[in-house]
Amino acid sequence: MKIKNSIYLGTTILLIGCTTSNRQASSNWKSFSGDKTIERKVDSVLKLMTLEEKIGQMTQFASSWTTTGPSVADDFLPYLKKGLVGSVFNAATVEGLRNMQKVAVEKTRLGIPILFGYDVIHGYETIFPIPLAESCSWNLELMKRSAEIAAEEAAADGQHWTFAPMVDIARDPRWGRVMEGAGEDPYLGSEIAKARVIGFQGGTDWKSLKEKHTLLACAKHFAAYGAAESGRDYNTAELSEHTLRNFYLPPYLAAKEAGVATFMASFNEVNGIPATASKWLMTDILREEWDFKGFVVSDYTGINELVPHGIASDDKHAAELAANAGIDMDMTGATFIKYLTELVKEGKVSEATIDTATRRILEMKFLLGLFDDPYRYLDENRAKSTLQKPEFMQTARKAVAESVVLLKNNSNLFPIRRDVSKKVALIGAMMKDSINLNGEWQGRGNRNQSVSLYKGLQEAYKDSNVQFTYAQGCSLTETTSQGIQQAVSVAKNADMVLLALGEDFNWSGEAACLTDIRLHKAQRELLAALKQTGKPIALVIFSGRPLDLSWEDENIDAILQAWFPGTQAGYGLADVITGDYNPSGRLVMSFPRNVGQVPVYYNQKNTGRPVMPDNPQGDYRTKYEDAPITALYPFGYGLSYTTFAINNAKLDKNTFSKGEKITATAKVTNTGSTDGEIVVQVYVRDLVGSVTRPVKELKKFQKIALKAGESKDISFEITENDLAFYQQTMKKITETGKFKLWIAQHSADNSNELDFELK
Ligand code: NOJ
Repeated sequence: MKIKNSIYLGTTILLIGCTTSNRQASSNWKSFSGDKTIERKVDSVLKLMTLEEKIGQMTQFASSWTTTGPSVADDFLPYLKKGLVGSVFNAATVEGLRNMQKVAVEKTRLGIPILFGYDVIHGYETIFPIPLAESCSWNLELMKRSAEIAAEEAAADGQHWTFAPMVDIARDPRWGRVMEGAGEDPYLGSEIAKARVIGFQGGTDWKSLKEKHTLLACAKHFAAYGAAESGRDYNTAELSEHTLRNFYLPPYLAAKEAGVATFMASFNEVNGIPATASKWLMTDILREEWDFKGFVVSDYTGINELVPHGIASDDKHAAELAANAGIDMDMTGATFIKYLTELVKEGKVSEATIDTATRRILEMKFLLGLFDDPYRYLDENRAKSTLQKPEFMQTARKAVAESVVLLKNNSNLFPIRRDVSKKVALIGAMMKDSINLNGEWQGRGNRNQSVSLYKGLQEAYKDSNVQFTYAQGCSLTETTSQGIQQAVSVAKNADMVLLALGEDFNWSGEAACLTDIRLHKAQRELLAALKQTGKPIALVIFSGRPLDLSWEDENIDAILQAWFPGTQAGYGLADVITGDYNPSGRLVMSFPRNVGQVPVYYNQKNTGRPVMPDNPQGDYRTKYEDAPITALYPFGYGLSYTTFAINNAKLDKNTFSKGEKITATAKVTNTGSTDGEIVVQVYVRDLVGSVTRPVKELKKFQKIALKAGESKDISFEITENDLAFYQQTMKKITETGKFKLWIAQHSADNSNELDFELK
């Protein structure tokens, strides 16, 4: 390769650094990755850079090809030509990226390569189920694999960095971004955060970033973005430090422990200070407490938004606040590039702050190998042979089958066996739909390509005794009496109805929040009419959030929650509907009985007036007059085509001391006649604490496969660390005392209750 600038020569770079610069880089700087060679290389590049060039590295521009927010209209080409573009966001195609990279590398003074970032959230071209859905698989290996595949595709197509995983705890289904996370639980959320980071980055060690099939990951949105008041996106998060540390921060910390290379600051304010301007979050916690060594990017125009937040008087003030808080890169807002030079000159931002941020960014470019070969990710042939490999599609299909959650199954309406003669009426706006199936954040996916449920079923039942008829019934939002009549008549002539309903993909995701989380009125009318036929109805729901399914639960025989399953939707769903795959998904977010209960989550506090189990409507208790306080379908819940029993639950001892462990064991049996998988879940309650403790907390889980009639002994170890929490002083410790432990099938399953004490 012809290298224009000597910076790329790993050996000469040191010479340049030592001999040609009179700029002083701070002498005691240590590489963030601990790699001495990289340390010297970064230092030597930094010494060559002007202040403006350094600030350029701290700047990310949006390619006009894709925008996901109000765009700041600066055309970035002039900046690019001056070597002032550290990163470009959501640009795509190998050729397009090469053109940009060429300018950066061959036409600028120092030739520092661009870092290309993209929202690769649940797949790049092969689209996997939305992250909330995939989380319901409780299969960490699978989630790691899907992140690996996403990384392999994106990296083959020229990308270096994904803005994922989103690890925000989410308790409010009105908030559209619940689709993008792992649900409500800090422990499960942390395990999933680690799996996804490791999947994207190829391991916990930054050395794996050098591999050509990996991406930098980005843990987002730091912090408490999911705590938006009233489920309204971008809204204020007002939560105590107790709640922040015990519930919301753990998954971000887990991502850091898994080696995540970057963090993204959240849009929201946390207790009065927007995260983007919060030195407490970005420096005191992230850097000093957690020792995070990578770099922090703002969210899209997040720095500019400090002005409407009312904490900065103008963009310049916003840049000052953000840089001093610890934001290293400005995503698309152009505040750093416009104002940081001046701010440094005025002494409002120190040059050391600029140097540190620049180093963090340059180090990632070195770790990715971009200084050795800026074009190493840009190879059309590699892209062609990598995107949508059959093996990737197979994994995506498996992920669909593992993500769906069977919520109700009266009379074993599911599965619809191929060998049973049956006339099935296929009805509903989602039956032939492919446009919505990828859900929000579909990367470079193709909405027309996703396999509809209809197509999946046609193929799966090709040579079977099952006959299909079809009527759409209504669209997602509109109904006509003719449409309903047609559907009713098709239903009347069938033995059962298989109905596909749900949400438009635009109803969830960023800035897509709802105050009514029932199925759309048009679809409810169709349902009611079909119910009148008296035919058994099996309902498949596509959605990006838990819906209020109270009416459906009461009136419909079987409900399968399909979420937004991605490219392989129809095939994976048909695997479940035929019974080729026995559903194993378990909810990671509680389903409310109605929106008035929201937020409803399993790991709540008891209060001083808990509802008494034997008298749930007893007076002067923390309850509603018009609905129970429990979820309709609780966290951890999901049915199977078989049944399971957990017996002989015991502990190896009833008391243990700090430094020791306690082992919980049980016998798990598949008591039905179909092979299947169960997610065995261990919950703990700390009965008395120096601060109040949740009524239950997930501490461990295992997903195990059991043949029909088979039993397996299962064991879980609990250590002092598993019981730790943040006290009033915000110190994390484990307190001695009495605990309850459940080995359970879901969070509301109290059948195997055990007691132990930590002395
Ligand atoms: C805003 C979103 O909050 C963030 O998650 C995303 O990565 C950026 N836009 C870029 O699209």
